[in-house]
Amino acid sequence: MGMLDGKVALVTGAARGQGRSHAVRMAQEGADVIAVDLCSQVGTVPYDMATPDDLAETARQVEALDRRIVTTQADVRDGAAMQRAVDEGVAQLGKLDVVSANAGIASFSPAEEMSDEMWDDMIATNLSGVFRTARAAIGHLKAAGGGAMVLTSSTAGLMPYQNMAHYTAAKHGVVGLTKVLALELAPEHIRVNSVHPTSVDTDMIHNQATYGLFRPDLAGEVTADDAGEAFQALNALPIRWVEPVDISNAIVWLCSDAARYVTGIQLPIDAGALLK
Ligand SMILES: NC(=O)c1ccc[n+]([C@@H]2O[C@H](COP(=O)([O-])OP(=O)(O)OC[C@H]3O[C@@H](n4cnc5c(N)ncnc54)[C@H](O)[C@@H]3O)[C@@H](O)[C@H]2O)c1
Repeated sequence: MGMLDGKVALVTGAARGQGRSHAVRMAQEGADVIAVDLCSQVGTVPYDMATPDDLAETARQVEALDRRIVTTQADVRDGAAMQRAVDEGVAQLGKLDVVSANAGIASFSPAEEMSDEMWDDMIATNLSGVFRTARAAIGHLKAAGGGAMVLTSSTAGLMPYQNMAHYTAAKHGVVGLTKVLALELAPEHIRVNSVHPTSVDTDMIHNQATYGLFRPDLAGEVTADDAGEAFQALNALPIRWVEPVDISNAIVWLCSDAARYVTGIQLPIDAGALLK
């Protein structure tokens, strides 16, 4: 028996990184998947974002587990496009039971120098995009007689990060959204929780823009090893970063019947970072 046998799951940001891991872990536990990703670049993001080939690879990995998957290139910032993507996925897979609102971006600047465009791209994706994902799903979860949503925040949703005022504000906003949705949807047996990862081993951190932020003392190319020490200093446990599957395991649990009375919580997967 899988923890999500017979369920249908929506995952945003599913082309790579944590989103791909969530889709695959959920499929391993018996779920079919509606996978959504932008698969193109956002102007203020200082690293390469996912591609259509990445989303196709997620589909390949889910299908290799004998689960069904419906992939759609859609932008979580676009409410109508998200509604179409979710409706079409439900039309093909029959229903919707669980949601991972995971899509997100990162960029860096001191607040004083931050452009309107950088701020607006961040809030539109990491906060409004999470709302639009949840809103597109609610009617389907009600129709299924209940369900679970997990909204991806960050340790930055519970503590401040310098050079990331926009990201910190968006991720704190996700906490407020989680709590309101949990209250509003509890009578429908829909649970809503947030997860708060420390640094995760994905392309969002493995790029020169992020490495440079962590090692401003180094000129030129900065390696993962150079940046690793600084990443480790954020955590209490002596590790540099957690793996995507560590977040997936938490999300699978939150979406499963093992967590049937857990709603409105903020679950850190943070190697103790919030203790410091
Ligand atoms: N990597 C970390 O250290 C870390 C830590 C804490 C929280 N997070 C959060 O985890 C989530 C997943 O990030 P990741 O580490 O897998 O990074 P990633 O860059 O590998 O994956 C993010 C995915 O989201 C997609 N995406 C971005 N904007 C989108 C949009 N407007 N519409 C649809 N899809 C869009 C991207 O194309 C990409 O596939 C994000 O919300 C991020 O903020 C990441």
